[in-house]
Amino acid sequence: MDPEAKKQTLRLLTYGLYILTAADKGEVVAGTVNWLSQASFAPPLVMVAVKRDSRLHALIEGSRAFAVNILGANQKEIASAFFRPSQVENGRINGYPFEPGPQTAAPLLIDLPAWFEARVTDTVKRGDHTVFVAEVINAGLRDLQAKPLEMWDTGWYYGG
Ligand SMILES: Cc1cc2nc3c(=O)[nH]c(=O)nc-3n(C[C@H](O)[C@H](O)[C@H](O)COP(=O)(O)O)c2cc1C
Repeated sequence: MDPEAKKQTLRLLTYGLYILTAADKGEVVAGTVNWLSQASFAPPLVMVAVKRDSRLHALIEGSRAFAVNILGANQKEIASAFFRPSQVENGRINGYPFEPGPQTAAPLLIDLPAWFEARVTDTVKRGDHTVFVAEVINAGLRDLQAKPLEMWDTGWYYGG
């Protein structure tokens, strides 16, 4: 395989951008991810690939649950605030207000247009990211008009 062709081809895959969150034993964490997709209608399953050495990975493994906050098209700046480690202060995580998810306690970011909570059903540990398959158990829409942030429009890459 030509490594450059592999890199450039995989970089043509299209993605959204999401803030993935989790809560376990009193700790909360949030990080921006793009490797996420729906994977079944019934039951409603999603899959997300999470870096093995991250706090996100540790808390999702511990709680067997997570929440996904969907970024709006104009929220690139919020996405960039969650590339760095999570810091919680005065009801805010990395500067943004949140509330605990009703089913999972994972942070739901109040400024983002939509969210869902999911419970992990399967874990595929291979390579430098783990794929968590999870069932969607709760969802909410804060802004019906919102359009999602698309990776291609940001000029960022995570893949290749
Ligand atoms: C554009 C971009 C996309 C990212 N996508 C993912 C992803 O799909 N999965 C993942 O585990 N980390 C992804 N990351 C890395 C996380 O945002 C970052 O490692 C995490 O927020 C830091 O979390 P930690 O403090 O838990 O290590 C991405 C980073 C960037 C810059």
